[in-house]
Amino acid sequence: MRNPVPEVVGSRPADHVGNGWYGQDILSVRQFNRPKLEYIFHVADDMRSLVLRFGSADLLQGKVLANLFYEPSTRTSSSFAAAMQRLGGRVIAINEVVYSSVSKGESLPDTIRTLECYADVIVLRHPQMGAAQIAADYARKPIINAGDGVGEHPTQALLDLYTIQQELGRVDGLRVAMVGDLKYGRTVHSLTRLLLQYNASFDFVSPEILRMPVEIVEEVKAHGAPYRETTNVLDVIGEADVLYVTRVQKERFTDLSQYEAVKDCYIITPEVMRLAKAHMTLMHPLPRVGEITYEVDGDPRAAYFRQVENGMYIRMALLAAVLGKA
Ligand code: NCD
Repeated sequence: MRNPVPEVVGSRPADHVGNGWYGQDILSVRQFNRPKLEYIFHVADDMRSLVLRFGSADLLQGKVLANLFYEPSTRTSSSFAAAMQRLGGRVIAINEVVYSSVSKGESLPDTIRTLECYADVIVLRHPQMGAAQIAADYARKPIINAGDGVGEHPTQALLDLYTIQQELGRVDGLRVAMVGDLKYGRTVHSLTRLLLQYNASFDFVSPEILRMPVEIVEEVKAHGAPYRETTNVLDVIGEADVLYVTRVQKERFTDLSQYEAVKDCYIITPEVMRLAKAHMTLMHPLPRVGEITYEVDGDPRAAYFRQVENGMYIRMALLAAVLGKA
């Protein structure tokens, strides 16, 4: 977002609306401190009640969201669309850029500057790290980062943190184990950074070639947060309060034989769950491709579909906030 155009809502200047989020981009979890997180979670709670009681509202009536996805997505794209529609807004969906002028060679800045002529807010997923920042540098309207390559996925991290809070009633003092592809998995990068705002401790469980990037481990160290790295999930399962499992990101590998070697490295089964705490919460950003077996789904600790639902409430809260209606 460049040079936000001041708008007046009622008699108040609009930059006082939405706890400072009005007209802002959402590019990284670094933009969120605890009061800002609590504000978004509070609005998400309201959105849940709204959906459960009325199904929809007209808060964003007349507003248009452009959903621009250069990478595949089920949950992120459809939850943003559902969020906008449940608040009475409309959606331009470009879920398959191959059918857009991108396939003719149109650049990201030009695509963004075109879509903002039609829309009030743009949600962008792109394979290149830093793409959301580039889009924001060119756009006048708010850009929401829905995943920039192996960089960040801030809205997923918000819904993950909200889910932890919902499932366990707190975040401070928890022991969070992240399992799987910690190198290429953008969700664990963003979630780790967010959890540094709380007194969480970390267990990073991955194959040697998929370890958490050094710069994120350095951030953890700089915060003085306790952490361990291991290749074996059985080292951590008994102590974890949260077990956050991720998919090995096949599309990021240049050598597919390396992918084949690690793709089935961790499989959470009922036998593994028997070793976990009674109140552990089991999470996954989805899609899963075998990391958690279907037999685990009936376990009350399996929170991944509740996580999906929470995603819509969080995205309703974010859209309302950046459009000045929260
Ligand atoms: C994740 C993503 O796209 O980073 N999915 C999601 O948004 N829920 C995780 C993944 O693709 O493995």
